[in-house]
Amino acid sequence: MKNKLNSKADMQLAAELIRDSRSMIAFTGAGISVESGIPPFRGPEGLWSRYDPQCLDLDFFHSHPKESWTVIKTIFYDFFGKAEFNQAHRVLADFEAKGLLKALVTQNIDNLHQMAGSKNVLEFHGNSQKLICPHCKKIYLPQEVNLDVLPPRCVADKQILKPDFVFFGEGIPEEAYRRSIEAARKADVVLIIGTTGEVMPAAMIPTEAKRAGATIIEINTEPSNYTNNITEIFLQGKASEILLKLEDLIQRN
Ligand code: APR
Repeated sequence: MKNKLNSKADMQLAAELIRDSRSMIAFTGAGISVESGIPPFRGPEGLWSRYDPQCLDLDFFHSHPKESWTVIKTIFYDFFGKAEFNQAHRVLADFEAKGLLKALVTQNIDNLHQMAGSKNVLEFHGNSQKLICPHCKKIYLPQEVNLDVLPPRCVADKQILKPDFVFFGEGIPEEAYRRSIEAARKADVVLIIGTTGEVMPAAMIPTEAKRAGATIIEINTEPSNYTNNITEIFLQGKASEILLKLEDLIQRN
């Protein structure tokens, strides 16, 4: 078991690895957005302990669209809609601007990395900021759709709109998948931030990087599936606090 407290040496070593990296990537999960007010999916306060994940099951969505959309609206549009990026998202955007971060693979659909200024964001599970008509493929922004009448329908053909993010039982967007694997195989350092590593195939991205020789630095408030497995340096704590400290150490060295 990794030591509970982050030793100064761990933080210093992580900062040096980041500073000297040539092809670092980040792999983020719901934990990086917790400090923006968005609960994680798992854990004591997790969304899946309050809502039934079947709302994101593709078959259930097709057979019970109104029921599914009612929960989806509550979680991903009422709740997520008002969230703002936090310092953890901002530090990653600055690492990218400084040329330290080559790619950001996220499991999140909250658009907060983009709002913080990250450009090369590979959205493994899509993005809640787009709704799509499965029939004519017309794309809508949430603000273009009246979510007080559920399920929302396409103006062109009255088909039920679907959020353009990945449901359980649905495939991963082809381009995001390919580019994420490519980035993982080229990475020399991976920052795993705020994820349990529970959900495949997303969870195998850091493992792919490790297999190709990358050094794994993990930031999480709790140990995850990675911690006693592929993680080299485990920095326990809140994403924004740890990333601000790392940013400060890098700037000072
Ligand atoms: N800072 C860093 N990590 C945190 C913080 C924080 N402030 N708060 C919570 N965490 C950690 C938790 O310890 C946990 O390991 O974030 C992780 C959240 O885990 P999950 O809720 O399982 O989120 P994630 O790993 O992203 O889930 C993957 O599951 O439901 C699907 O599609 C959904 O993309 C999601 C996928």
